[in-house]
Amino acid sequence: MAGSARSPQKFSAEWSGKRSLIGVAALLIASGGVGIAAGDAGLTRHKIVGDAVPNSLTGTAGDPAHGRAILVNRQVGLCLLCHSGPFPEERLQGSLAPDLAGVGSRLSVGQLRLRLIDASRVNPGTIMPPYYRTDGLTRVAPAYAGKPILTAEQVEDVVAFLATLTK
Ligand code: HEC
Repeated sequence: MAGSARSPQKFSAEWSGKRSLIGVAALLIASGGVGIAAGDAGLTRHKIVGDAVPNSLTGTAGDPAHGRAILVNRQVGLCLLCHSGPFPEERLQGSLAPDLAGVGSRLSVGQLRLRLIDASRVNPGTIMPPYYRTDGLTRVAPAYAGKPILTAEQVEDVVAFLATLTK
């Protein structure tokens, strides 16, 4: 249409990038019902207290720099499909979920951990995938069958990074 400010070429490049992200996410978003990750075979056990998992899954603190890399990675965390945040170098950021800026002041480390492990424990209707749960899932991509999206170490790294987002 005449008068459109956006070049069609730029738009289609952006959109095809988004489309492939959505495809991957559709495979990852496989939550069905509420599960207790602590009972999952092969996963580190963890105890939910209120709306938090107070103890580290690995027994140690994660590495925030690794966590940031996982968060912005389009193959691993895929967080920016839905979230935006203080990641100036990332051109495509999502608008389906709260901005992650300041999340480290809004939520405790334990609250961040539970939201990452299994956000459906906090909001049963959430679209956020459970990153450390394997039971009760449907439509899991074969490569992910029986495996959580993130390892316990990766969960701790992302939690450690989110905790630094205090502004
Ligand atoms: C498919 C969309 C989607 C993806 C992918 C996703 N989230 Fe979320 N996330 C949400 C939504 C929606 C919420 C809002 C609360 C709810 O619905 O559970 C949320 C809430 C959160 C919260 C709590 C925010 C607050 O202010 O209360 C944190 C922290 C969070 N997500 C971190 C992450 C991280 C880290 C990743 C990647 C490892 C990620 N999310 C991936 C959709 C997503």
